[in-house]
Amino acid sequence: MAGMADDIKCVLYSEDLIKDTVSVLAERINSDYRDKEPLLVGILKGSFVFMADLIRKIDLKCSVDFMIVSSYGSGRSSTGAVKINKDLSEDIEGRDVILIEDILDSGLTLSYLIKYLQVRKPASIKICTLLDKPARRATDITPDYSGIICPDEFIVGYGLDYSEKYRNLPYIGVLKPEAYT
Ligand code: IMP
Ligand code: MG
Repeated sequence: MAGMADDIKCVLYSEDLIKDTVSVLAERINSDYRDKEPLLVGILKGSFVFMADLIRKIDLKCSVDFMIVSSYGSGRSSTGAVKINKDLSEDIEGRDVILIEDILDSGLTLSYLIKYLQVRKPASIKICTLLDKPARRATDITPDYSGIICPDEFIVGYGLDYSEKYRNLPYIGVLKPEAYT
């Protein structure tokens, strides 16, 4: 049986580059939230690898929570529909919330989520995304913290999947066309 790496056409972002990027994002959050205790909300599933690395570089008394949303079917293109499969377990009234995303693509998921959460009266809601694909933006949403601006290519690894696979690659790469079956 062939390994996962055989399906990768090229590595776009190495483990080292991702590590440095995560540190830079964490430093910015550390300084912006110096006297605060933010709630970091990981948007699952894609953000779990990034979230795990990011929080270990954050030197604040933060808490974490998760939401499970699905905006994509099993394929590669957005349906535009956002389904909330698991809501927050924390009360966010008066809290400084940071939404943690793997990648901001059309922006439909996050713009929906922000409206959905705003009615609970958090003190603030900010967006932290590892990757940003601005070419595909369909709403006027800009991340407050953004790690890497990426080209308009479908990428996998470091939490990002194609059909629920490749999330466990330690780097981010582009799939070979024949891997889309
Ligand atoms: P948006 O609502 O279009 O911004 O969708 C964001 C979500 O789509 C991300 O959290 C990912 O789960 C998924 N997504 C967007 N682009 C890619 C990609 O290139 N590879 C894997 N998943 C992606
Ligand atoms: Mg996905």
